[in-house]
Parts: sequence; structure tokens; C-alpha cells
Amino acid sequence: MLKILQISDIHLIRPGEMLFGSDPLARLEACIADVNRNHADADLVVFSGDLANDGLPEAYAALKERLPALLPPYRLMLGNHDHRANFLAAFPEILADSGFVQASVDIKGTRLILLDTLETGMVEGRLGGGRLEWLDARLGEAEGRPALVFTHHPPVDIHMPALDNCRLMDSQPLLGVLQKHGNVRHIFAGHVHRPVCGSWHGIPFSALRGTNHQSAPVFAGKHRVNLEPPAYAIILVSDGSVVVHYHDFLYSD
Ligand SMILES: [Fe+2]
Repeated sequence: MLKILQISDIHLIRPGEMLFGSDPLARLEACIADVNRNHADADLVVFSGDLANDGLPEAYAALKERLPALLPPYRLMLGNHDHRANFLAAFPEILADSGFVQASVDIKGTRLILLDTLETGMVEGRLGGGRLEWLDARLGEAEGRPALVFTHHPPVDIHMPALDNCRLMDSQPLLGVLQKHGNVRHIFAGHVHRPVCGSWHGIPFSALRGTNHQSAPVFAGKHRVNLEPPAYAIILVSDGSVVVHYHDFLYSD
């Protein structure tokens, strides 16, 4: 059994400040405490982007200070709210792959591919600059083995227009690469701050709430933030199945 945790959209700001009436750093600390209490045996924790709300060095410094408390191993991804250079300045041990914060990790026979969909200055996501080719190569190496793709921006419309307008825009070329290899079992996204799942051309996908604030379920009109409970996802992979649990960590004990 492979156990992965997905934590997304932590949106850190300057320590002590509030964002939408909630303290994102306190939420991260509560999330880490819950993981340590309930899922210290996880094989990996994936933070799927929007680590910082404004890409501030102080936010990355606070993250760096808190992460050693997390018991399972972890990987960090970027989202549209992040600042790649500020992030890499705080985490110089993370080597940017061709200038991007992307990674391929093999655990228990499964390949996890963590994309970098941040396009500097844009809210929408992109996979240009060699990122799609990099994905193509990583999936090719995993020929015959199951692969899981983590992406901050989902490639699919979730029928909330304000979010669909800023999803991953290179979805058609991405689909071409995924279909070419045929070994991707699930796509895990962040960005939308909503618990959503479904399939995209036969490939299952899911997204989840952030740890600080959420997207109100607005299916027409402007985006609104609300304070539905924060969550992280527990992903269990075994015997040809991928199971995703959403865990409201402030209300679970
Ligand atoms: Fe976000």
C-alpha cells in the first residue's frame, strides 16, 4: 500500500497576519500536527502549490521553519500565488529542473510526477518552456508502471467560470502526452480550493480544499472566498486502485 497525503493552497503570508479572517500559519501548524498524529506513516506528503499568498520571502521562511516538524517526507510544488525565485532562495537545496520546480519520485512501484504550472505574472497555468517535454520523458521512463500526476492548476473545467478561466491552459497538449503513454492513473490538482472529483477523457482527477480559505460554490458570476473547513487528502494506492479521502483536520478527532 502506498499512502500519499496531499496538502494544498496553504497561502502563507507574514507570520501573525490574517488572511480572509484566518491565520494561514496557524492552520499549517494544525495540519502538520494532525498529520503527525494520524498519518506519520505516509510515504510522502505533497504540497500542491500556492505555498505563499503573495510569494513573500517571509512566507517561505515561515514554511521552512515549520516543515522540520512534519514527520513524513514531503515535496513542495508551486502555484500561481508563488514566486519561483523567492521560493528557490529560501529552499536552495531544491534544485530547479531546467529552471522549474518539478520532480519525479518513484515509490513502491508507482511514479509520482509533480508539475510546475506557474507562469510568472499569470493566474492561469502553463506548461511551456520544456515542461511538457519533461513530462513526456518522465512518463516514458515509467512505461508499464502506474503514474500519478500532481498539478497545481487542474486541466479540466469544473464549471465554475471564475476558476475555469484560470485553469491549466495547455490542457490539450497535456492530454496528448497522457494519452500517448496511457499509464497515468489519476491527476491530483489544487488551485480551486474545492473538493471536486471526476474524470477527464477517462483519466480520474480530484482537487481539494486549501488549509486556509475556500472557494464558495459559485457556478455563475464572480469568485467568492468562504471559510468552509480546511482539509487535506489521504491517497491510498494498492492493487490497481486509487482511493482519495478528504480529511477535515480541524474537526476530525
Ligand atoms: Fe490557491
